[in-house]
Amino acid sequence: MDLHEMDRYIKSIIKEAGHRIRNSFLSDISIESKSNVNDLVTNIDKEIEQFFISRINRDFPEHRIFGEEGFGDEIRDQKGVIWLLDPIDGTMNFVHQKRNFAISLGIYDEGIGKLGYIYDVVNDDLYHGVLGGGAYYNDEKLCRLSDTVIEESIIAMNATWAVPNRYFDHNGTLQLIQDVRGIRSYGSAALELAYLASGRIDAYISMRLSPWDIAGGMVIAREVGAVATNIRGEPANLMKQDTFIAANPSIHSRILEKYIQQK
Ligand code: IPD
Ligand code: CA
Ligand code: CA
Repeated sequence: MDLHEMDRYIKSIIKEAGHRIRNSFLSDISIESKSNVNDLVTNIDKEIEQFFISRINRDFPEHRIFGEEGFGDEIRDQKGVIWLLDPIDGTMNFVHQKRNFAISLGIYDEGIGKLGYIYDVVNDDLYHGVLGGGAYYNDEKLCRLSDTVIEESIIAMNATWAVPNRYFDHNGTLQLIQDVRGIRSYGSAALELAYLASGRIDAYISMRLSPWDIAGGMVIAREVGAVATNIRGEPANLMKQDTFIAANPSIHSRILEKYIQQK
């Protein structure tokens, strides 16, 4: 795989997809719910996934696609080249706010993340990472993360994890909230990973993420030295839904040891 050529190709289809999403603001969209009433999907999520699939099938017929809306391939192993795609990450924000959502895309070869993209469509901000080649915010190279401490950190986390839940003891999270400098919740896992990579936040924690939420962001975040695991400290899973924490390496293990006790 020629990463340089792929990178140019991917950037052009991501920008085209972004243009289509911005155009959708001009007409009515249809909204449905999936696993529960707050799990939204629109015709635009579906159309954008189909747009990517038609391009990938035409130009890279041997590659497979693991997309959130299910129009891609059924993926049961990590063989060959797989595109992990979330056409709109942050659909609730897309529907309610028309901002704070992103296209999230990771290209993996035999399970190894080679290229990662997060496109903040409304701000026209593209974050991308190339394995061994660094991470970028638009065309600016991102610096490696410098050490920090919990007390000076900003952590992104959904408020759901600070109330009783089935994954872990929420008293630990309440303590974390008291100990850190600030808590943020942006409503798009992909953007939260992009903010981690660009040093705007120091960690992002979620109890329920899917491979397409994190695939692109993991490539980008790792290029600046961030560590991404599940809450048991195992490598993040690209085959199924799991817990997730990505953080500045100087605080990752401390957060898990001191604050997150799995049930
Ligand atoms: C969701 C967003 C949200 C996260 C959810 C994801 P979607 O993705 O990333 O921030 O908390 O777990 O499912 O459904 O908008 O693509
Ligand atoms: Ca998502
Ligand atoms: Ca989505």
